[in-house]
Amino acid sequence: MLRNTVFFISLLSRIFISHGVCINHFDVYDECANPFPSGCCVFGSAFICNGVNVTDANDFADEIPQTSSDLFIANTNKSFINDGDWKFLYNLSYLQELSFNNHKISNLGNLKSVYLKDLVQLKLLSLSVGNLRKFPVEQFTNLMSLRYLDLSCNKLQSIGEERWNFSLLNDLILSNNRLTAVRAEQLKGLGTLSTLDLSYNRISYFSAKVLESMPNLKYLHLSFNRLLHVSDHSQRHTKLIFWGISSNLFVSLEPSIFHDFKSLHTIDYTKNSIKDPPRVYSKNNETSAVVLSLQFNVIEILSPLFFDHFPHLNGINVANNRIRQIEENAFRSVPNVTVISLSDNKINTIPIQLFQHLKNIEILNVQFNRIQILHPQFLLSLNTDVQLFIYGNPILCDCQAVPLLKWLILSATPPSTFPSCQSPEELQNQSIYDSKLPEDCHYSTSIPASTEITPTSYRNPLNRDVTFMLIIGSLIVVLICIFSKIFCPACKAS
Ligand SMILES: *[C@@H]1O[C@H](CO)[C@@H](O)[C@H](O)[C@H]1NC(C)=O
Ligand SMILES: *[C@@H]1O[C@H](CO)[C@@H](O)[C@H](O)[C@H]1NC(C)=O
Ligand SMILES: *[C@@H]1O[C@H](CO)[C@@H](O)[C@H](O)[C@H]1NC(C)=O
Ligand SMILES: *[C@@H]1O[C@H](CO)[C@@H](O)[C@H](O)[C@H]1NC(C)=O
Ligand SMILES: *[C@@H]1O[C@H](CO)[C@@H](O)[C@H](O)[C@H]1NC(C)=O
Ligand SMILES: *[C@@H]1O[C@H](CO)[C@@H](O)[C@H](O)[C@H]1NC(C)=O
Ligand SMILES: *[C@@H]1O[C@H](CO)[C@@H](O)[C@H](O)[C@H]1NC(C)=O
Repeated sequence: MLRNTVFFISLLSRIFISHGVCINHFDVYDECANPFPSGCCVFGSAFICNGVNVTDANDFADEIPQTSSDLFIANTNKSFINDGDWKFLYNLSYLQELSFNNHKISNLGNLKSVYLKDLVQLKLLSLSVGNLRKFPVEQFTNLMSLRYLDLSCNKLQSIGEERWNFSLLNDLILSNNRLTAVRAEQLKGLGTLSTLDLSYNRISYFSAKVLESMPNLKYLHLSFNRLLHVSDHSQRHTKLIFWGISSNLFVSLEPSIFHDFKSLHTIDYTKNSIKDPPRVYSKNNETSAVVLSLQFNVIEILSPLFFDHFPHLNGINVANNRIRQIEENAFRSVPNVTVISLSDNKINTIPIQLFQHLKNIEILNVQFNRIQILHPQFLLSLNTDVQLFIYGNPILCDCQAVPLLKWLILSATPPSTFPSCQSPEELQNQSIYDSKLPEDCHYSTSIPASTEITPTSYRNPLNRDVTFMLIIGSLIVVLICIFSKIFCPACKAS
């Protein structure tokens, strides 16, 4: 049970930190069952000091089994700022994880690198939740196996220009600090870095040049900062897959930022103040991105210029904007798009030709807009395999709603909840599925008759007819035989 808790904590420190919440892992931690005099205890190969009153770090130094692989120190009242406070780290050559959580350390100035000389196997160092104002990189160069460094939830104001000399580091977590700028000459020596988390800071200057020294970077988190734009260009084609810049101050799309990243998959611009597309279209600025999220921005008119630089998009999310108009050719440059979310906008009309060239649409979400009518011609252009989400629109329940109802019923995945009628008044709030739509709807030639919307299984009429005729034919033969058998004697008799 307690072992499980330790394992859980150890996982927690790896997985949950980058979501902006400063977690005190030991808040809900079980008491030690058999504590040492210091109040610390051993669980499996982990040594844990949670909430103990230590006067001297060496109070527990002798208690730590030399073979410990994890060392968790949390909620102590000890500030660990004196030379010698760190002696307990000597000889712990099996240590893989060292975690100070909710600590009182504000200054690592007295930590001598010699105290860390035995930590040759240390893979994870967490100093999360504390008062650190500076991280003296040069004091930690003995940690040659370090893969994960978590400095989140401190008071770091700057990252120096020293070399980060960790030759195996995968993850550097700097979220929830007070950083204001990341310059080209900072964060050097991180050639193996795969995740860089700078979210929840106060960054208003970020130079993309800093990424040039991180050829293996895959995930860049810059959300919850104060960026209006990104400075400089990276000249190297990195392996970056994910670029998160949600909750910043961008007012326009800047595709040129991403143009150098040939592996870029997802760009997350959620919760910015983007209203306008890039002003100039430049083919040289096309990006490799496959997913683009523009959720929670302030777009009013969806024009093709938003996507022209992103021809490879598969998923587009422009939900929760203020879109009231979609230009007819809005998706002209994204032929391979499969998922589009337009939900929670102010759209009342979907242009008939909108998806004319899009053959791969799988999911179309237009929930919670102001759509009263979907034109039958538009519905015809939409394959019935498409999953259409249209709930939360004020549907006009007259003859014009019949094609929509039919389309929804015949679609491969009919909705679990059908949209409701807004008008006429007597049908208000009734599901279009339950409401009595007019039965005597007369379709003009522009409105397709119901037979035109048929599931594919009914096609191939030739084979069906041949089989049908064969069956009928043999039935007739059998009947003639029976009749002749029954009635022939009578014939003869008469
Ligand atoms: C530590 O000492 C303080 C007062 O010095 C006391 O309030 C606190 O309860 C003590 N904590 C533990 C875990 O003994
Ligand atoms: C921590 O608690 C112990 C025991 O109460 C006390 O003697 C010591 O002075 C405290 N240390 C700090 C830094 O508050
Ligand atoms: C622990 O390390 C110190 C300093 O390196 C050394 O003097 C001491 O002998 C070591 N103790 C053991 C038990 O290895
Ligand atoms: C960085 O590490 C290399 C070897 O891994 C070493 O030669 C160099 O002195 C280190 N630099 C610093 C600033 O510690
Ligand atoms: C990207 O487009 C901008 C104008 O939007 C232009 O100034 C810049 O030079 C272009 N970059 C490249 C690499 O073509
Ligand atoms: C769309 O997908 C096809 C088939 O996978 C591919 O050949 C084509 O290059 C893609 N087009 C774009 C613009 O990504
Ligand atoms: C339909 O629902 C709205 C909002 O829930 C409500 O204001 C309105 O009175 C309802 N109309 C009818 C006819 O029930």
